[in-house]
Amino acid sequence: MKIVTSKDEVRQQVREWRRQGLSVGLVPTMGFLHEGHQSLIERAAAENDRVVVSDFVNPTQFGAGEDLASYPRDIERDARLAQQAGAQLIFHPPAEEMYVPGASTFVDMQGDITAELCGRTRPTHFRGVCTIVAKLFNIAMPDRAYFGQKDAQQLAVIRKMVRELDFDLEIVACPIVREADGLAKSSRNTYLNAAERKAALVLSRAVELGSRLAAGGERDADKITAAMRALIEEEPLARIDYVKAVDADTIQPLSRLQGRSLVALAVYIGDTRLIDNFIFEE
Ligand code: PAJ
Repeated sequence: MKIVTSKDEVRQQVREWRRQGLSVGLVPTMGFLHEGHQSLIERAAAENDRVVVSDFVNPTQFGAGEDLASYPRDIERDARLAQQAGAQLIFHPPAEEMYVPGASTFVDMQGDITAELCGRTRPTHFRGVCTIVAKLFNIAMPDRAYFGQKDAQQLAVIRKMVRELDFDLEIVACPIVREADGLAKSSRNTYLNAAERKAALVLSRAVELGSRLAAGGERDADKITAAMRALIEEEPLARIDYVKAVDADTIQPLSRLQGRSLVALAVYIGDTRLIDNFIFEE
């Protein structure tokens, strides 16, 4: 497996593969890989002849005061884990390779889809995500790109961007991978101390509670989210950012679960902001 740092090297390699008639899957990541990322790479390896993993902590999707500087990084370890999972190429550019000095072009999606949920707390986040993902699509030109359901709003945003900007590729959604006790895997879990790690279980317990209520016939979104909130509020180290039911594709708020509903939450455990969700579909 190769680690490359320039866009040209990715383009050359992908062009070469295409000449050989091989299909290409792309797995965009910010690195510090875990089994969640690996599940995406494994799926990409199963469905494509070659897999490119991008490993880049994208500065434009972090707001002021967020964790850009402290975000965990370890490219050697990432390379090992990506290779184990079936990748052939890791693209690990320095920031100036992705953003030329003076760069001022962004993909800035409007509407509820980027204003709700994480967009409320992180108003410039999805502009950064769309911009970097659009660039990665243009650089790697994959047949398929793989995203986790863990970032459900991101997935909806990327799908909409692909439709509206006519990217010629397929978006593949992959299920949430969890620790044995239920906590959704995340590079940010490394920020948690022992007490916080225990407290972080309120997220997956709230998800379990909400999905149990929905499966039991409850359709009132406020009742479901109120029960989830009450559970989270019992944990002194937890501070709720949001717990909300929305349409899974449009991210429009719902008063009743209907169609494909997304019940999503973001909770601070100490200083660490974690997210989780479930999809309910009748
Ligand atoms: P990152 O947080 O590194 O996540 C990369 C991909 O892995 C995303 O599609 C995310 O949904 C998926 N993922 C993370 N944890 C997961 C889990 N526990 N189970 C399943 N999938 C999981 O998301 C980003 O990076 C960035 O925003 C990116 C798309 C790379 C743009 O910079």
